[in-house]
Amino acid sequence: MILLGIESSCDETAAAVVEDGRQILSSVVASQIERHRVFGGVVPEIASRLHSEAITGVVQEALSQSGKQLSQIDGIAVTCAPGLIGALLVGVNFAKGLALSAGLPLVPVHHLRGHVASNYLTSPSLTPPFLCLVVSGGHSHIVAVEDYTCLRVLGRTRDDAAGEAFDKAARAMGIPYPGGVELDKIAEGGNPQAYKLPQPHVAGAPLDYSFSGLKTAVLNLLHNAKQKGEEVSIPDLCASYRQAVVASLTTAFMKAAEQTGMKKLAVAGGVSANRLLRRELGALCEKAGKELYLPALPLCGDNAAMIASQGYYEYLAGNRAGADLNASPNMPIDFPAGQP
Ligand code: KG4
Ligand code: ZN
Repeated sequence: MILLGIESSCDETAAAVVEDGRQILSSVVASQIERHRVFGGVVPEIASRLHSEAITGVVQEALSQSGKQLSQIDGIAVTCAPGLIGALLVGVNFAKGLALSAGLPLVPVHHLRGHVASNYLTSPSLTPPFLCLVVSGGHSHIVAVEDYTCLRVLGRTRDDAAGEAFDKAARAMGIPYPGGVELDKIAEGGNPQAYKLPQPHVAGAPLDYSFSGLKTAVLNLLHNAKQKGEEVSIPDLCASYRQAVVASLTTAFMKAAEQTGMKKLAVAGGVSANRLLRRELGALCEKAGKELYLPALPLCGDNAAMIASQGYYEYLAGNRAGADLNASPNMPIDFPAGQP
C-alpha cells in the first residue's frame, strides 16, 4: 500500500511517499527556519502563510521524486494534531481537497505518533511493544507503545519540553534560533563538569520531567557573571547544560524501562538527534541489556515520511477521516481509538 504523507504542524512543509509504512520512496522537506530566525522563534501567522505558499510544490516534488503518479497512490495521511492551528489547517485542507478530487481515503495522523514511526522507517525489524522517549520542541513524554495505534503515556514534562529547554537556554547564551541544534554542536568542545547545575526531578513522580528550574539556573548564572564582569565559557556552559538535561532524560527513561520490563527502547522527536543523548542511551542500554532504536538523523526532525508510516498503521487499524476533519492544537498522543 502506497501512502502520500503531508506534514505542516510547525515550521516545516513536508510531503513523502511511503510503501507499506516502512519504505521511503520520496521525502521532501521545505524548512521555514531562516524566515523565523530573525524573530527568535516561530511566528504562527508567518508559518501558515509560508505553508500555503510551499505546499503544492512540495507535494508535486514528493510525487515526482517517488516516480509515482497520483493515480498510483492508495491513500493520503495528514498530520491533524497537535501543533500550530493555522499551520496544521494548511496541510489538513490541502489533504482533504486532494483526497476528494482523487477519490482517495484520508487518514488522520497525530504528529507525535509520527515521530515514533520514524523508528519503523529506520529499523525494519522494530515492532511494538516497546518504550519510546518522545522528545520534541513542544513535548517530552515517556510512552509505552503497546501496539502501533495503542500508546500509553507513563511520564511527561511538567513545564518546558526538552527541545524548548535547549532552545531557551541557547537563546540566553546568544545562540540563534533554533538553538538546540547549535548548542549540541558547541557542547562537543566544552567541559561538562565546568558549571554545577541542578539535577532536575519531580518529587514523587520519578517518570516526569521538569526543566524550567534548570533553565532559570542558567539565566541566573549568566546574569550574575555579567554583573560581576566575569567571563562565561559558552562551550563549557553548553556542555554542562546538555549534560544536565540528558541525565534527567535518561534517568527517568531507564527507570521506566526497569519498571515496565520492556526490552526494546526507542527515541523520537527533534531532540533524538542530540549527540550526547544518543551516546548515553547507547551505553546505558548496553549495560542494562536493552535493545536501543534510534531514528536516522534525517528522520529526527519534522518530516512527512514518518506521517505516511504511522498513517499506514492507522489505516490498518481502520482510522479514516471524513470531509469534516478538523485540526487540533492539543491532542494527547494516547487519544482513545475512534478519534480524531
Ligand atoms: O520534533 P521537532 O523537529 O519539532 C517539533 O515537533 O517540535 O523538534 C524540534 C526541537 C527544537 O526544539 C530543536 O532545538 C530540537 O528539537 N533539536 C535538538 C537537536 N536537534 C533538534 N535539541 C538538542 N540537540 C539536537 N541535536
Ligand atoms: Zn515534531
